[in-house]
Amino acid sequence: MRILSSEDFARRARANLPHFLYEYIAGGSFDEITAAANRTRLQAVKLKQRVLHDVARIDMSTTLFGQRIAMPIVLGPVGLAGLCATRGEAQAARAAVKAQIPFCLSNVSVCDIAEVSAAVDRPIWFQLYMTKDRAFTKALLSRAAEQCSVLVFTVDTPVPALRYRDLRSGLSGARGFRARMRRSFQCAMRPAWAWKVGYRGRPHTLGNLRDVVGARSGMEDFAGWIARNFDPSVTWADLAWVREQWKGPFIIKGLLDPADASAAAKIGADGIVVSNHGGRQLDGVDATIDALPAIAELTRETTTILVDGGVRSGLDVLKMLGSGAHGVLLGRAWALALAAGGESGVTCLLDTLRSELHAAMALTGTVSLAQAAAAIAR
Ligand code: FNR
Repeated sequence: MRILSSEDFARRARANLPHFLYEYIAGGSFDEITAAANRTRLQAVKLKQRVLHDVARIDMSTTLFGQRIAMPIVLGPVGLAGLCATRGEAQAARAAVKAQIPFCLSNVSVCDIAEVSAAVDRPIWFQLYMTKDRAFTKALLSRAAEQCSVLVFTVDTPVPALRYRDLRSGLSGARGFRARMRRSFQCAMRPAWAWKVGYRGRPHTLGNLRDVVGARSGMEDFAGWIARNFDPSVTWADLAWVREQWKGPFIIKGLLDPADASAAAKIGADGIVVSNHGGRQLDGVDATIDALPAIAELTRETTTILVDGGVRSGLDVLKMLGSGAHGVLLGRAWALALAAGGESGVTCLLDTLRSELHAAMALTGTVSLAQAAAAIAR
């Protein structure tokens, strides 16, 4: 089967990955209502067909935080993406650089900042969670400052949500010999992955957290570690502290409420990500496409607005931009493309998204991203 759309990548990824890993990436929290809504609500947005506009020259490029990029897409933070392919985050970052778009490394990645930075010739973005140990957070921030251009601070995860798929698959909630055997069996069912990633892709440590987590916590009780170490007492005052530590562009990720978006602007955030964590945190909240317009109306002139949740095609990108965003983050789409085909899988996905966005802009008579609002049928 030829891989064409992000659906195809997801199917191939499912065939390549051990069960617990595919479930971890594809799943949402609780009943997965918000995860599904991100998709269905985005699919329900209608585009406006326009004809006889001169669409011979279409400009998909934009500038985000001083960086000129080829299209309004960022590879967003995905924890443990390094398990999707051999040293996966480094491969994905190379694909992003090739496509001239930013790559944002998750705080809970397998490859650390230094490894991914060494794989590419331009600065990556870094995503931070606040851990209880502030001295560690400070040290991590200064490491990031040396090699990363933009900081993304995620605020929708003071505690991890319940993800039943991870409990059922054995990724979470199960420790010790039996749990390891169960995961090992699932790995053995995917021998190519087991050899290339499970064996040759070691170590599987959470690279950036090596000093506090130790060598084994990549797969062992991942959610449990988050529950014990993420700091649920973080408030806007702590964000102001992070803002002071970080001199470069500072983005707050995980907002759905216009009042929170205004508060983010007030503490000096350069950008926000309208996000419900891909429906992996609080289930039952708005799909991001529904939350976006009110936030954009309030803050678009002063703050760079990024959005994620359910973006699987170039048409989805245009819908998000037409609804008020300056750019979108991809989550599952790139992680599954990485699992399907490594660096070239991600490159192929980004080529597809570029072609789709180009066609969508042409057929709606949109020649630049500044005109995206006119592409939406209201
Ligand atoms: C995530 N996301 C995420 N966000 C973050 O700030 N730090 C992280 O470490 C992770 N880890 C993570 C792992 C996996 C497997 C997924 C699917 C997602 C959330 C991610 O950045 C983004 O908000 C959502 O993935 C967007 O939704 P879609 O595009 O996956 O539908």
